Amino acid sequence: MTMEVQEKTESLLFEAVIAKKTPQIVGGKGIYVDIISEGVKHEKILDACTGAAVGALGWGDEEVYDMVNKSIREHTYSFPFFVGNPHAERLADFYISNSPPGVFSSAMWCGSGSESNENALRIIRQYQLERGKPEKLKIISRMQSYHGFTLGAMSISAGNRSEIFKDIMIDQENICLKMPVCYPYRYQRNDETEEQYSQRLLNSLEKIIVDNNPATVSAVVVETLPGSSLGTVTPPKGYLSGIRALCNKYDVIFMLDEVMCGTGRCNPNGKLNCWENFLTAEEAPDIQTVGKTLGSGYVTIAGVLVGPKIKNAYTNGSGMIFGSHTYASHGFNCSTALKIQKKIQRENLTSNIFQMGNLMGKTLRKTLVEEDNTIVGDVRGIGGFWSLEFIQDRLTKKPFPPEANVAKNFQKICFENKMNIMSMPGIIGDGTGDIALLSPSFIITESDVHEIISRICKCVKLITEKLQKEGYV
Ligand SMILES: Cc1ncc(COP(=O)(O)O)c(C=O)c1O
Repeated sequence: MTMEVQEKTESLLFEAVIAKKTPQIVGGKGIYVDIISEGVKHEKILDACTGAAVGALGWGDEEVYDMVNKSIREHTYSFPFFVGNPHAERLADFYISNSPPGVFSSAMWCGSGSESNENALRIIRQYQLERGKPEKLKIISRMQSYHGFTLGAMSISAGNRSEIFKDIMIDQENICLKMPVCYPYRYQRNDETEEQYSQRLLNSLEKIIVDNNPATVSAVVVETLPGSSLGTVTPPKGYLSGIRALCNKYDVIFMLDEVMCGTGRCNPNGKLNCWENFLTAEEAPDIQTVGKTLGSGYVTIAGVLVGPKIKNAYTNGSGMIFGSHTYASHGFNCSTALKIQKKIQRENLTSNIFQMGNLMGKTLRKTLVEEDNTIVGDVRGIGGFWSLEFIQDRLTKKPFPPEANVAKNFQKICFENKMNIMSMPGIIGDGTGDIALLSPSFIITESDVHEIISRICKCVKLITEKLQKEGYV
């Protein structure tokens, strides 16, 4: 249902488009939300992306209201550098004990994914100092990656989003180095197997380490499954374990960013970490960042998980972590996040999203890529995190020109068909490349999945017709 509402169209917020109100969510229940856009209220929009892959429990969970009520009574505030709280401890215990034994031994909690990556960079730096390796400074991350919008997180990211800030970012020539993007759909050659493509990427990484003097290389950082930067590319066989092996060989920290793909969104065992799809416990990261579904949108919380190698260096060194944030380990946030995680676990929602998400993604791939001759060149992902990549030419995989506005128009058409998705233009290094991301709540049922599939297929048909009319296909 839609209805006209009276409201000011000017925004007082300094975000998104200056002075223009973005569509506003004014209510919701489960996987449906009500949105006011340009003076019109749209009811029951199917939320297929939960903002930016944030939601696990969906909107308006009555049990969470009770949790929030309890949590606020348990703890008001303490400054963690001097006075801690048991909720942050318990949340750390939950994450550590729901990861393979021995992989993580410590955690710190903060407010956003960017902040978690910022903290991880600092933790890694201090780790090298604690073990008497001050010359180990360099961090290698990937082209077309996204780790956040604070200056440190931007410095390990690469892509057109951070381009205008590059002059104030950490030195990109000598400190924050970049290795090639991992993007099999575009860059795995026809004469190459998945494993050979992985090996080619690993050879490039090894060359960067060697050319830059391994004694000065501190860490390699990748998103286990990239999200908005590239669209849920699953790592090809041997890629992540190959990075782990190179990190071992050259005494370099292996860091994974699971802010968007982690905390239950893509775990095959009803647990938390996405990397468990691709790595054994022995190959686990030394440090990992998380966020998003940790608080399922009800609280703003993210974190850094620290493995024993890093923790021991601190314990055997100064025993101190330099720096702290006012709202780190916030009692209310940690307590609520823990209750949310326990509910997710009790109701087997991680297994549910893994199963339902795979049904959604695999059916979309079969319909849009394998059977239909549409403008969707690739459907990729795992568990509750999938994306569609649009292309102008199926044979050459040529992307649409930016002026065709495919990502933005697809999102608009989805909205007109009462569904929220997240679309991103410009994912290929040259500024072209359009993707649409799907990351629904963990609570979706099989009939919700079929509803998402049916609306996506309809919207692909509608945008194809629009592009045909405009002469792009
Ligand atoms: C992989 C990854 N890392 C970090 C971030 C930054 O998180 P935040 O927006 O909470 O700062 C994001 C955000 O989308 C992300 O996808």
